[in-house]
Amino acid sequence: MSIHTPDIKRITTHTIQEMKTRGEKISCLTAYDFSMAGIVDAAGVELILVGDSASNVMAGHETTLPITIDQMIYHATSVVRAVKRALVVVDLPFGSYQGNSREALNTAIRIMKESGAHAVKLEGGLEIKDSVTRILSAGVPVMGHLGLTPQSIYKFGTYTVRARQEAEAQKLIEDARMLEEVGCFSVVLEKIPSSLTKQVSETITIPTIGIGAGPHADGQILVVHDLLGINKAFKPRFLRRYADLNGVMTDAISNYIKDVKGNSFPNEQESY
Ligand code: KIV
Repeated sequence: MSIHTPDIKRITTHTIQEMKTRGEKISCLTAYDFSMAGIVDAAGVELILVGDSASNVMAGHETTLPITIDQMIYHATSVVRAVKRALVVVDLPFGSYQGNSREALNTAIRIMKESGAHAVKLEGGLEIKDSVTRILSAGVPVMGHLGLTPQSIYKFGTYTVRARQEAEAQKLIEDARMLEEVGCFSVVLEKIPSSLTKQVSETITIPTIGIGAGPHADGQILVVHDLLGINKAFKPRFLRRYADLNGVMTDAISNYIKDVKGNSFPNEQESY
């Protein structure tokens, strides 16, 4: 697909769908900048999400609410520049699509045009059906996001597991069906009981991507900084840390400081 890297076969929404059909799990991670996106892509994930979690991870905000469309485009543009294979999906930030479907379409078009990303993600079910439908009608692939939707944190009050009660679980199933019917290519299920993820994944034919949603989703996603152990404070039960980069980086920086202060850096070979 790319004229620059003709030997690399790009992942598309169809690839993701085919993976579900043949029962192959889909690996997804977030990325927000060029350097990390290059590593994540080269390692081989199928989908990279430029999540609005950039608001927490990159900017240090307590919630995802403050991040703006321009900031999402900045992150997405940096990621797209690095990625040669994965499908790049970008979150529509809080307040940029809930007002009306025209506003939602304008946001999606800006993000697609200015960043070069391949799809967008929106949080919510029936309440945002018109926005999702309108974006899809412009030819932009849409990923849904149900369960714990962090843009609604002030409505929920906590980050605890969602849809434990029957009524909320039923609504989630109906929302997932609706997202499939209108044409979404996939849906994120965040922090819901494992049994509900199983039910949804068996009910709809589009891939489900879980985070804190158990092993039955068609794929999994994590925030890459959490997986790498960069942020030590965040320790939810669902998170598996694959590295302690916080420790590795702290040691490296401490050694650098020691060498500078002891006048052993730079040495002769490192000088001109
Ligand atoms: O913003 C984000 O990183 C997300 C994932 C956690 C699914 O929405």
